[in-house]
Amino acid sequence: MRTHYCGAVTTDALDQEVILTGWVHRRRDHGGVIFVDLRDYHGLVQVVFDPDREAIFTMAEHIRNEFVLRVTGRVRHRPAGTINEDLATGHVEVLATDLEVLNRSETPPFQLDDNDVHEENRLKYRYIDLRRPEMQQRLRIRSSVISHLRRYLEDNDFIDVDTPVLTRATPEGARDYLVPSRTHNGSFFALPQSPQLFKQLLMMGGVDRYYQVARCFRDEDLRADRQPEFSQLDIEMSFVNEDDIMMLMERMITDVFREVLEVALPQPFPRMTFAEAMHRYGSDKPDLRIGLEFVDLSDAMTEVDFKVFSGPANSDDGRVVALTIPQGGRLTRKEIDGYTEFVGRYGAKGLAYIKVNEVAKGREGLQSPIVKFFDDAVIATLLERTGATDGDLIFFGADSNKVVNEAMGALRVRIGHDLGLVEQGWKPLWVVDFPMFEWDEREQRWTALHHPFTAPAVDTPEAMEADPKGCLSRAYDMVLNGTELGGGSIRIHNAEMQQSALQLLGIDEEEANEKFGFLLRALRYGAPPHGGLAFGLDRLIMLMTGAASIRDVMAFPKTQTAACPLTNAPGTVSEQQLRELSLRLRKPADTASQA
Ligand code: AMO
Ligand code: AMP
Repeated sequence: MRTHYCGAVTTDALDQEVILTGWVHRRRDHGGVIFVDLRDYHGLVQVVFDPDREAIFTMAEHIRNEFVLRVTGRVRHRPAGTINEDLATGHVEVLATDLEVLNRSETPPFQLDDNDVHEENRLKYRYIDLRRPEMQQRLRIRSSVISHLRRYLEDNDFIDVDTPVLTRATPEGARDYLVPSRTHNGSFFALPQSPQLFKQLLMMGGVDRYYQVARCFRDEDLRADRQPEFSQLDIEMSFVNEDDIMMLMERMITDVFREVLEVALPQPFPRMTFAEAMHRYGSDKPDLRIGLEFVDLSDAMTEVDFKVFSGPANSDDGRVVALTIPQGGRLTRKEIDGYTEFVGRYGAKGLAYIKVNEVAKGREGLQSPIVKFFDDAVIATLLERTGATDGDLIFFGADSNKVVNEAMGALRVRIGHDLGLVEQGWKPLWVVDFPMFEWDEREQRWTALHHPFTAPAVDTPEAMEADPKGCLSRAYDMVLNGTELGGGSIRIHNAEMQQSALQLLGIDEEEANEKFGFLLRALRYGAPPHGGLAFGLDRLIMLMTGAASIRDVMAFPKTQTAACPLTNAPGTVSEQQLRELSLRLRKPADTASQA
């Protein structure tokens, strides 16, 4: 149907006859001449309709945006003064000699170059939204990234194996999406939160090196980097340790950045323990492009006459930290109040600060509602540790470890962006030595920080049971510019250890057998040592394309409320379908809630 892509018509084709197909991006009438920018995924080219050719000129008068055309014409130089250096085709235009309207279009709900379209509308008309050049570009980069990753893995002896989507629950910390079974009344499949258990079973099946671009389903609160349905590059290997896996994966990510973006990532990726990351940044996925760091003052604040500080300073589970903002003295009262409100969202009860006017003057050079609580020694310590200089501002967080880390960690990133303190470029990082368990206050029980199949860094179940709080795991996360790109671990391959880990998580033998009996059994039949990890593919591609959300790198994502405005999923089902599944709704379906 065509000889050239629209975006590929250059001076190379001068004086040639070309046949082009595409969409009308824009039509302009200019004193008897009609110009049409014709667009395909490759780009735009200007087509000219001359009144001399009356039949097609009349047709061209009725063309509207997003009509689909097939144009035959001759390539010629644009007249001097009308050259557009920003376009690959900007030196030429095509004088139309024939025109076929392949399809008409109603007036599109939005212009392709309008950047303020409500996302709901973009998703409802996704097929139009996808025609935007940046969306085309992202889908193409996505495809190219995945193809490079596959090639790398296959070159390294990995094989691609599919695992079931109708399965049992795999615990990754979210709610399951359930599918009722018709043939087993009252029973449900769960869609996989990840292929975790199947990939481990593949290792037990002697597969040795597995990968899969796997769809995962998690019913959790959605954010810019979370979707209910997303893709993992899922990987598992036998007879390896942490270093083997981390080095292979580091090389893979380095390769794909080089091949697709021509970016050289720093080598090797630095490694940081979980404890250090929390201590310095309050986060297990620190954005190292931002230089700001916590300064711990817990030990210096135990005696101060300010309960807000001395309380957490004297508590095992509390901390007091300072965050020095270079030249933050310029922040207005209103901006400081804004940040106080911001940390409040993370549970902080306030945001104390000191404006450092003149360090040399000691106490007199400081402006703050809290210095009155500090004696000179405390002031000297905090000035020395923070290294604050004239014009800086020091923020303080004092609370439980959890609140301080979350609130001040988020503040660090927020201020980094607000004040332009984010370095250009790419800062990858491995976070290692995670704790094995985390205490859940509300439920009063241990939970797995990674997942229950991660191996502890101790050799025996007894050692793990003796000190669950202090027990580290053999897990690792890859972080890039503050986003958790992927995570994994060496797994438990011993049935007793697995049983003990499940028990510590409050899953008794009966429940363990009911839920994971198949895994526990498999572990007794010669399970090899194994480990792996999974990358969030959408997140990787979001970072590589500079998109603001993973929704922008997925062809058909869901909204923040986990719905699809295009197809109106989820939808109701007929009484007949419910009956076949032996289901009855507790409340009649509310049509309004589906919208
Ligand atoms: P984890 O739960 O850390 O590990 O998931 C691995 C990676 O998947 C991405 N990710 C998501 N991306 C988009 N939307 C979501 N809702 C979402 N949730 C997670 C993240 C994350 O790093 N089975 C283990 C891996 C293993 O141990 O091998 C697992 O699923 O980038
Ligand atoms: P107050 O004595 O409650 O007026 O607090 C004095 C200063 O300490 C104010 O600037 C508060 O914002 C701040 N503040 C209160 N609670 C905390 C906290 N938990 N962490 C840090 N600063 C706090």
